[in-house]
Amino acid sequence: MITQSAEQFPLIRPSVQIAMSQDEFNACRAFIYDRTGIYFQDNKKYLLEGRLGKRVQALNLHNFTQYLNLLKNGAARDEMRWFYDTITINETFFFRNEPQFNALEEKLIPEILSKKGNGRNKLRVWSSASSSGEEAHTIGMIYLEKLKPKYPGLEIEIVGTDINASVVETARSGVYREYSVRNMPKHYLTKYFTQSDGRYVVRDDVRRLVRFENMNLFDKQRMRAMSSFDIVFCCNVLIYFDTKSKIQVVSQLYDSLNRGGYLFVGYAESLHGLSTAFELVNFPKTVAYKKG
Ligand SMILES: C[S@@+](CC[C@H](N)C(=O)[O-])C[C@H]1O[C@@H](n2cnc3c(N)ncnc32)[C@H](O)[C@@H]1O
Repeated sequence: MITQSAEQFPLIRPSVQIAMSQDEFNACRAFIYDRTGIYFQDNKKYLLEGRLGKRVQALNLHNFTQYLNLLKNGAARDEMRWFYDTITINETFFFRNEPQFNALEEKLIPEILSKKGNGRNKLRVWSSASSSGEEAHTIGMIYLEKLKPKYPGLEIEIVGTDINASVVETARSGVYREYSVRNMPKHYLTKYFTQSDGRYVVRDDVRRLVRFENMNLFDKQRMRAMSSFDIVFCCNVLIYFDTKSKIQVVSQLYDSLNRGGYLFVGYAESLHGLSTAFELVNFPKTVAYKKG
């Protein structure tokens, strides 16, 4: 997980927090919703006030309205990057939802491969809100550890995408803290990581399987270009969206899948009321959504 550090606010160290008026909160939340689908409930005002307030002060601005105007100015592209990095929550860790990875290995992939038929032994997997890459790298390790020995000719392409450019950089570096590996089976930790200065570095043969890109799930054009996936993970991000945004994203994820492909969402998430296009399939301790 990446957190913003004090070094990112170099100009002034804020002493008094700037207050955000209700109108400013409404304007900020509408802007965020429009760009990212993320909806800040009233009880999250303090969060925006605290996180964005530091930036307002660091930029020597007087209030949040000035900051919003800066963001709306098309020339402030670098500031938009900082903005996305600040408003997103990037909590993740390796093997976060183990039953999903068991279902992937034991049920989904054998089924998908049997339907693909001979000679079409390439799988495409998308971790669509990948944060710092733990989910995507977990899939890469499972491929090397469990799938490759069973299906020697099998190739895999794993794509990880996230709106937050800083976490995408961490994902590309493959360097993690203790926190990320805390749920990791010991065997995987010893076999697929090297340890250096208290950091855990993912082995190169895992990293080579995964490509990370900075992408917004609400960028319709880029979403249309994401196609022909066998399995899509969209975990622990729908919770930040309202129903309208969820429906839009789920519909585009449906289009990104091959027929017979599967979508995973987070443990506390469901497609109930969002889509009737998928078939709900039960696996031990988890479910997945199948494109028929
Ligand atoms: C809580 S993390 C989940 C990470 C991982 N999928 C997991 O389950 O462990 C949610 C991620 O969604 C990303 N996110 C939020 N809104 C997004 C959007 N509109 N497009 C792409 N990614 C987004 C955040 O930057 C964050 O890294």
